[in-house]
Amino acid sequence: MSNLALPTLPYADTALAPVISANTLSFHYGKHHKAYVDNGNKLLAGTDLEGRSMEEIVKATFGKSDKVGIFNNVAQVWNHDFYWLSMRPGGGGAPTGRIGELINSSFGSYDAFKTELTQAAMTQFGSGWAWLVSEGGKLKVTKTPNAENPLPHGQTPLLTIDVWEHAYYLDFQNRRADYVAAWLEKLVNWEFAEKNLG
Ligand code: FE2
Repeated sequence: MSNLALPTLPYADTALAPVISANTLSFHYGKHHKAYVDNGNKLLAGTDLEGRSMEEIVKATFGKSDKVGIFNNVAQVWNHDFYWLSMRPGGGGAPTGRIGELINSSFGSYDAFKTELTQAAMTQFGSGWAWLVSEGGKLKVTKTPNAENPLPHGQTPLLTIDVWEHAYYLDFQNRRADYVAAWLEKLVNWEFAEKNLG
């Protein structure tokens, strides 16, 4: 039985250009994401975690020194599934509706949120992720290293941006700040964030 599957992307590999080129997308999805799926399935085979949901596996293996391989690969599959949906062609800009109101009440303004997300993305040393999460009825920005995500911390993820170099290096080289700014301006999917509020 396999737990993990590579999802079908809801857009063409050219659809996020020029922020994320087809070259970046094809390597990121077809090589990096696929490798996490394949390695995760190999590591899960025959264990008592096989057949459980990704969320359950992430929570059950977080911080367990004998389950690091399973945690890293399964969490990275979950994170990438979530990242692809955190973007859409023609996205970006300030949110409206319920999520827009929550951004304003939680951060003061959309600009203040942008500054906080950019700061989190820029100060995540090395590989990792920046997140918009909901916790206790309020929205927060967080960052996580490597494969870690907000699920074991009792937070509800709303959006994520991948700040591993494989997400932006072909298009932006070392200019992570330019990638984050373009992602917010052109790609961020506020409809997905609103849906994740539940
Ligand atoms: Fe990635």
